[in-house]
Amino acid sequence: MIDRNRTGAPASARRWLAAVLLLCLLAPLLAAATPRERVLLDTGWRFHRGDPAGVDGRLDYDVRPEITQSADGKVADARPDEAVRIEATRPVLKPWILPTGNRFIRDPKQRHARPDAAPPVGDIAFLRADFDDSHWQPVSLPHDWAIAGPFIADGPYGGMGRLPSWGIGWYRRSLDIPASDHGRRVYLDVGGAMSYATVWLNGQLVGGWPYGYNSWRVDLTPYIEFGGSNQLAIRLDNPPESARWYPGGGLYRDVHLTTTAPVHVAQWGTHVTTPEVSPQSATVHLAVTVDNTTDAPVHAQVETEFFALDANGQPQGEAVARIPAIGFDIVAGGNTKATSRARIATPRLWGPPPSQQPNLYLAVTTVRQDDRVIDRHETRFGIRDVQWDADRGVVVNGEHIVLNGVNQHHDLGALGAAFNLRAAQRQLEILRGMGVNAIRMAHNPPDPQLLELTDRMGFLVIDEVFDSWEKKKTPLDFHLVFPDWHEADLRAMLRRDRNHPSVILWSVGNEVGEQYDGEAGADIGWGLAQIVREEDPTRPTTASMNWAKADMPFPGMFDVINLNYQGEGIRQDPEFEGTERIRTPPSYPDFRATFPDKVMFGSETASALSTRGTYLFPVTPAQSAPVRDHNGGGDSATQRVSAYELYAVDFGSSADKVFATLDRHPYVAGEFVWNGFDYLGEPTPYYSARSSYSGMIDLAGFPKDRYYLYQARWRPDLPMVHILPHWNWPNRMGVVTPVHVFTSGDEAELFLNGVSQGRKKKGRHEYRLRWDAVAYQPGELRVQAYRNGKPWAQATLETTGAPAQLALEADRSRIGNDGRDLSFITLRVLDAQGRAIRNADNLVRFEVQGPAELVATDNGDPRDLTAFPSPERRAFSGLALAIVRGLPGQSGTVTVKASGDGLQAGELQLQVGQPQ
Ligand code: GAL
Repeated sequence: MIDRNRTGAPASARRWLAAVLLLCLLAPLLAAATPRERVLLDTGWRFHRGDPAGVDGRLDYDVRPEITQSADGKVADARPDEAVRIEATRPVLKPWILPTGNRFIRDPKQRHARPDAAPPVGDIAFLRADFDDSHWQPVSLPHDWAIAGPFIADGPYGGMGRLPSWGIGWYRRSLDIPASDHGRRVYLDVGGAMSYATVWLNGQLVGGWPYGYNSWRVDLTPYIEFGGSNQLAIRLDNPPESARWYPGGGLYRDVHLTTTAPVHVAQWGTHVTTPEVSPQSATVHLAVTVDNTTDAPVHAQVETEFFALDANGQPQGEAVARIPAIGFDIVAGGNTKATSRARIATPRLWGPPPSQQPNLYLAVTTVRQDDRVIDRHETRFGIRDVQWDADRGVVVNGEHIVLNGVNQHHDLGALGAAFNLRAAQRQLEILRGMGVNAIRMAHNPPDPQLLELTDRMGFLVIDEVFDSWEKKKTPLDFHLVFPDWHEADLRAMLRRDRNHPSVILWSVGNEVGEQYDGEAGADIGWGLAQIVREEDPTRPTTASMNWAKADMPFPGMFDVINLNYQGEGIRQDPEFEGTERIRTPPSYPDFRATFPDKVMFGSETASALSTRGTYLFPVTPAQSAPVRDHNGGGDSATQRVSAYELYAVDFGSSADKVFATLDRHPYVAGEFVWNGFDYLGEPTPYYSARSSYSGMIDLAGFPKDRYYLYQARWRPDLPMVHILPHWNWPNRMGVVTPVHVFTSGDEAELFLNGVSQGRKKKGRHEYRLRWDAVAYQPGELRVQAYRNGKPWAQATLETTGAPAQLALEADRSRIGNDGRDLSFITLRVLDAQGRAIRNADNLVRFEVQGPAELVATDNGDPRDLTAFPSPERRAFSGLALAIVRGLPGQSGTVTVKASGDGLQAGELQLQVGQPQ
């Protein structure tokens, strides 16, 4: 049932029938009179993996090439390959799916006609309304079918996270559409479905969308039985080896049913820009596209009111500006765009904290026909001025903002790809704690709610659409559909996301193979950049380059130069002599000389690697080194990378080396570090693991040491000092055990058991203080940091005793009972004196009592193949995480307990109740 907040049904069947008849008669009138409804379809779904027997490819979107070579463990900057193109010689569904993208294809001649005949699929049990799906798994959305595992320990699956994301999945539910909706349009709005979705209603193919990261809509109207139950079935078909990371699988974002009058604001039909911004006033330019889905021309009026939003996103007081009604005609089956302007006096600007505030506004657009309100549509936006200055970089509202950015993939660790607002918000909060002010959405359109968060929290965003174009990085990645879908996918992202003030730059690709193709590759880039310019002339375009050089045609196609790793130079150390992989000298000066008028920055820097809390010896004396067994970088036997934070992928650099490069080239606008949070898949350099080593924060959300190195630079006013390694080394008595210190100060003195190990000052282009000759003895390390000669911050680190007790700490002790809200609970292993043991690895067991459930556990260890839902988890480097969700609709006190052999249990209470 869809909860529409309508008045209850009449009691008797006869009265019910009479009401239906009346509604049918009045339907056209009512249809025109009721503004839009948007209903979240999160419950009532049944899910099943695999097709019914005997389908034999009849439901395939298209035929796919054979996988001849497995791509697991391929170096990330390996040159992409030529596509293998094959023509289907048997019927496939593609001709019926392609028209779903028509709205996003500019040239009418290029749009796709739906075949007259129904697709020749025959009788498919799962499509029938009378199919009994009661034995299917009941699920709520968002849903990721693979995240519960189990992990696949053996075989070439590391790249995609060792979780079974590929294959077929079906979702079914019924939709009760009232007779009163007759004459209205009913759309299914899908935030994202992984992947190759086909949507069926009452056994008929409605449409679909291959790319798993985009949001899309299908029009259910022609297939609906009004006044009855409608059987919805969605089939997804994830190709194997389709990604360089974990894609997830399923309806992993929100799905809505949107019902409108036949004349209504089009999908993503508003476009707000703020061409003139000053402290005194702002001009807001608004374009509204209105669709007329009837077969007669109509006349409509559109008017818009603007409201300021408070910090909770609620409109404050009276409208601050108004665009009076404009009337216009719309042809039958067509649309019209109405453009107009308003002036907002003393605007509260949107800008990144801490120096600015992310203020937001709301535009409420009303569509009228014959003086009746037929649609009401809301658009959130911000008023800000962004200038791109080749000498300084990004200037927001007149203030130069150095980009202290990170790259983020879409998964939420143990929760997988299924979007969760609180989990995403927590990630952003942790990143903000480090001083991050910018996010690159690597390498695909994010969940729309993530951009609402970045708007509200004031992050600057690079919105990126593709990781590959025509050439492939993995055998069955997006290149398979690029020729047919790139225009629709790109325009869909642009129209969906262009009103977000946080988005400052559009990226049309990441390290694409077309960089290697001279003019031909540049032409494809130019075509994509032109699409961006058509849809949004206010923001620049870019594509990230790890190979194209300044003198090649490719970089000239874009407005902003985005370099991956090239700025610092790639594989320049002597040990890479003779290697056939990419080798590039430091490249910012070359690009600067060739493009003196373009802003440039490192869209991927570092790709430094580490396992949280793991320290290997010897420690390289270099500022940056690749991970090798012999240099203290890695241990291939245990698949751990040292957390001295000096080691990187072969084509990358340590954080320190990147900082030095940026400081030597002050025209570079900043960096986006690869990467913020560890993510599932791509576990370079150890592909038998499940998750990456490149995050500054591990998969569970626990900061690695590197977090503090960035914090020291990005939050210079925060007095802080951080010491590594841990100080529990019973087997290193008297052995040299380097101590490194990260501080926002400029100098520090280190004491071991009260004895000074010397006072050190950061030199030019040095970002850490190193005491590389400390001989280990147990006891206390203490560091006193200074800034400008004055005491600035202090820290101590002690040798701890044996594990004795467990302590729990919740990030939030009240959670809402909407079935989505979460509490993230950190477990620490303590000694008898209550000191956290930074190298403890005890096995613990979580238990939840009361109106909540344990959703997942983790510890941030990339090698841990214990399934995420497991209540048992080994602590890793002293920590473990439990994720707890309030049960929908329930309230009360929840007790979370953690126990372990020989340890005093830890316990805490949470309150579950109405979301606040
Ligand atoms: C880059 C690539 C990223 C990621 C990274 C890992 O080359 O663009 O997606 O793979 O390497 O180091």
